[in-house]
Amino acid sequence: MSDISVRPLGEEDWQQYRDTRLTALRESPEAFVATVADEEAFDEDLWRQRMNRSARLIAERQDSQLGIVSVGRSSDDNPNTSELFGLWVSPEARGSGVASALVRAGANLAREQGQSQLAYWVGSDNGRAVAFASGFGFRPTGKRRPMRVVSENDEDEVAMVLALGGDRGSVPTDF
Ligand SMILES: CC(C)(COP(=O)(O)OP(=O)(O)OC[C@H]1O[C@@H](n2cnc3c(N)ncnc32)[C@H](O)[C@@H]1OP(=O)(O)O)[C@@H](O)C(=O)NCCC(=O)NCCS
Repeated sequence: MSDISVRPLGEEDWQQYRDTRLTALRESPEAFVATVADEEAFDEDLWRQRMNRSARLIAERQDSQLGIVSVGRSSDDNPNTSELFGLWVSPEARGSGVASALVRAGANLAREQGQSQLAYWVGSDNGRAVAFASGFGFRPTGKRRPMRVVSENDEDEVAMVLALGGDRGSVPTDF
């Protein structure tokens, strides 16, 4: 655990982000709305734009990439809320604290930006992700939405929220 580092990626790191993101989509297609086929088609300009649109954090041990997460504006434009998305940890590194290290870094970043809460939309059937988020301190809200616009099943996503102040148990009021 102690040899894991988490760092934000800059625009110049777009290829590293692309490679890890495509690995995530290939490895866990059920966890993400985007598909690897969609994103393999993106050109360099689009990847560079993505680096600037949201913060991209990568967890590494020496030269190997262990996981990624993104933090950006909330999808409902709530000015006090940042959104955590695209969380993925490589299968070999699961259960070793990498997900916590990534989310802690994302929460710190949002807090430094003056945000009061961090939202995380997670598939309600994604038991491991929901369990991880609950263990970290995220609380479920009543907000739900379909996971995909067109879907073979009717899985939905639930919004979970982490208060970024001192009180991790506080109930978000405006989300
Ligand atoms: C979601 C993810 C980032 C969590 O990271 P992780 O390293 O697996 O998380 P942890 O092992 O720290 O925590 C998972 C928790 O779920 C529990 N768990 C494991 N498998 C489970 C399952 N099938 N159902 C419910 N809970 C489960 C674990 O016991 C653990 O709980 P604990 O901390 O109380 O023991 C990682 O599993 C992942 O990358 N999954 C694939 C991509 C994905 O689903 N991303 C989320 C998209 S929203």
